[in-house]
Amino acid sequence: MQAFHMRDCIRKTKEGVSLTEFELRQLVAGLTAAEPIPDYQIAAWLMAVCCKGLTDEETSILTMAMRDSGQVMHWDSLPGSVADKHSTGGVGDKTTMILAPICAASGIYMPKMSGRGLGHTGGTIDKLESIPGLTTTLEPERFLRLVERVGFAVSMQTGNLAPADKVLYALRDVTETVDSIPLICASIMSKKLATGADSILLDVKVGSGAFMKTDADAEILSRLMLAAATADGKRCTTILTDMDRPLGYCIGNALEVEEAVRVLQGDTQNALGELCLRLAAELLAMSGKGTVEACLAQAKKTVTSGAALERFSQMIAGQGGDARITENLALLPQAQCKRVLKAASGGYIAAMQSEELGRAAVLLGAGRMTKQDAIDPGAGIRLAVQLGDAVSVGDTLMTIYADSELKIDEAEPLLRKAMTISPDAPMVRPLIHALYTNRT
Ligand code: URA
Repeated sequence: MQAFHMRDCIRKTKEGVSLTEFELRQLVAGLTAAEPIPDYQIAAWLMAVCCKGLTDEETSILTMAMRDSGQVMHWDSLPGSVADKHSTGGVGDKTTMILAPICAASGIYMPKMSGRGLGHTGGTIDKLESIPGLTTTLEPERFLRLVERVGFAVSMQTGNLAPADKVLYALRDVTETVDSIPLICASIMSKKLATGADSILLDVKVGSGAFMKTDADAEILSRLMLAAATADGKRCTTILTDMDRPLGYCIGNALEVEEAVRVLQGDTQNALGELCLRLAAELLAMSGKGTVEACLAQAKKTVTSGAALERFSQMIAGQGGDARITENLALLPQAQCKRVLKAASGGYIAAMQSEELGRAAVLLGAGRMTKQDAIDPGAGIRLAVQLGDAVSVGDTLMTIYADSELKIDEAEPLLRKAMTISPDAPMVRPLIHALYTNRT
């Protein structure tokens, strides 16, 4: 019987010596054991990982051990390919609400486990819960029946999915050890692999509003995540997408549902619509539905025919929500106060600080300042312009929504600072920076 000592792990990682598979598995087992490894030792090891890194092999073993720390789901009863998608966190990112119904209408299944907003980034669960009546707390049986019938459903992540990540994540959050690429890879991929999909699409956000600030870091993370998926026998594509600007025009929960519905109603000739169709095409291609080009045409057809909107409506009804919102957007919660922000000078929108926009949305009530805070579903920001647009003095830049003028007063200076108008047109980078895949 081999002995395991946490102190040895801390020392070895601190000195840049690789841990063995036995040590990594014992370490992960010790996170959720009845007599767990003390927080101070885990925190010391996390800091050593942040400073010295882990090898690709260590990262892969850590990821698999964390995956196995809880339930690994299987979808054998679903009569088709099962797909999943994950975004590393962004501002205005409402892609799941568009992509999942398109994929469902194209014949693949998406049993989607999603999260709430984190920091300045929004979460699909909060967005969907802005639909009157809709619940994301679904019993496993009800969730499965809905996925079988509609092709997708969206549930809050269950407590038993990669519980080792919960322990590590909570400690990372308070010990300044979040921004370690091997730890981010293990955190995301342990949960993704545990959800049991055959094909996984990873949308890696890069830029000022994302965890990955540079393409170089996003590329390293992408390759590590792809390697973990490949080692687990999954098809996987990672797409690096721009977060130097928010995605689309709306930031805030009901506002983002509204924008998603508009895309599903056919308004796809914009960055958000085009990105969602492309992401759907990648997932469909990974799921054996043809070439990316053929899948793109198929994805578009589900929108023009109304089939994708119909699936969205069926999911809402199946989760107890008021599906009439897909025909009458005025039934979504509305903010009590609004204010229009106008351009003080003319020129071009040269920069949009998405992180600041996200923080302002939180101040307005679209996110939480403390864990206990309730979300104001109608709060948020509706942009009237996009990066690179020409504006004249007095043009509307955005409309701000909240339940009080006070909150708008607080957010307004942040929002003005987030938007830079300059005389010169900026270089606008393409929304998709790079793509990596193990699809054959
Ligand atoms: N999202 C996760 O789930 N984990 C991380 O470490 C970062 C983003």
